[in-house]
Amino acid sequence: MKVSIVGLGYVGLVTAVCFASKGIETVCYDVDEDKLKKVSRGIAPIYEPGLEELLTQSVRGGKLRVSSRCSEVVHNTDLTMITVGTPGDQDGRVDLSQVKSAAAEIGEALVRDNKKHLVVVKSTVPPGTTAGLVRSIIEDESGKTCGVGFSLCVNPEFLREGNAVYDAMNPDRIVIGEVDEGSSAKLLMLYEEFYGERLPPVLITNHVNAELIKYANNLFLAMRVSAINMIANICQRIPGADVEVVAKGIGMDHRIGPHFLRAGLGWGGSCWPKDLMGLKHLSRELGVDVPLLDATIEVNENQPRMAVRLAESELGELRGKRVSVLGLAFKPGTDDVRGAISIKLVGLLLERGAEVVVYDPVAMRNARAVLHDSVSYADSAQECIKDSDCCFIVTEWEEFKSLKPQDFVKLMRNPILIDGRRIYDPREFMGKLRYKAIGLGT
Ligand code: UGA
Repeated sequence: MKVSIVGLGYVGLVTAVCFASKGIETVCYDVDEDKLKKVSRGIAPIYEPGLEELLTQSVRGGKLRVSSRCSEVVHNTDLTMITVGTPGDQDGRVDLSQVKSAAAEIGEALVRDNKKHLVVVKSTVPPGTTAGLVRSIIEDESGKTCGVGFSLCVNPEFLREGNAVYDAMNPDRIVIGEVDEGSSAKLLMLYEEFYGERLPPVLITNHVNAELIKYANNLFLAMRVSAINMIANICQRIPGADVEVVAKGIGMDHRIGPHFLRAGLGWGGSCWPKDLMGLKHLSRELGVDVPLLDATIEVNENQPRMAVRLAESELGELRGKRVSVLGLAFKPGTDDVRGAISIKLVGLLLERGAEVVVYDPVAMRNARAVLHDSVSYADSAQECIKDSDCCFIVTEWEEFKSLKPQDFVKLMRNPILIDGRRIYDPREFMGKLRYKAIGLGT
């Protein structure tokens, strides 16, 4: 089986590299020629643990290659995956322009294709998009009918940034939504070849269910995190309470499970904020009230404000105070700052007149592109906290975990630490400096 990938974003690149690493011939196309050049030289355009090594091996082994011509990638393969971005606006409206162009280019290429090519939509799209927009564009451009001249299905992706290679290799399940009956067969063959005996459970359904599963999945996970963050806020007001212990206790109930129960300053990223707003927009159009979705977003918006209040309760007014922020990536293991809580927190601190200094082990370049010169940039965690009046732990990077109470006491002007990700043991930190943590009652 030969595969083509259209769109070398997160999902496209990881999927391509994983297929190629298992010997499946994979050809990638993207409109960004710089990206294609990098990938062809084995350089990953994004930071993702384990990705570059696999990419280099796959390029060297000749299993992964790139092309700047969409028609070429389509012609030389059995199926094409659309993995372009679907950004959302403030209102949650999903911008499908990249999906439209990809569908048009694939459709054009299919004019001269005499086998029944399979097109797979992996990008996150609102329900109805694949069977509506994508199908009609491909039919118009190719002059062929879906189900006769080509096949079409939806195959949502559930990989997490920072764990993307692992997730792509070890998914919990595969979801395939058919547009034309039987279109899942060829994709299933690919996955059988790829996973072998480790093929995960497969759910084959219709296209709208598959599209909805992706949105609902992200909503459920975000709801869990907002729920535990809400519990954390309650814990903070109750002497002796600790959300870490409460989360452990509820996670032991098999109906709840232990994952995605880490309380913190809130969730971010390029997916949850966009997908929750996308679902909200869809619900508005459908005339359906979504109070749980609204509350999930509201709790999240309040988390960084609550952290600032915690700092103010220790330090008083923040005006003129030097505040250090450790961690800018929306989570560890990535250099992505899209939708990151760090950016929201920095905004709140600047609004209050604080002087902000930031540090992240890998996301400095991306953060600079957003924060410009509104903050100072440190070269290390130690330099960041030096002479500051208050420090926020915003991303739970391993390297921050090795900081000891005496590092904060020695380096900070005023050793006030807000542990926004619960990376320190309160027993070690309390009493040595003013240690406040999310979900820890005083
Ligand atoms: C998320 C989903 O987990 C993936 O399944 C999905 O494929 C992806 O979105 C997508 O739609 O493409 P991702 O955004 O990479 O993946 O990150 P997550 O690991 O899900 O974390 C999301 C946010 O929640 C992060 O800010 C993280 O710090 C926060 N989080 C997560 C918590 O605060 N507590 C937790 O217990 C878990």
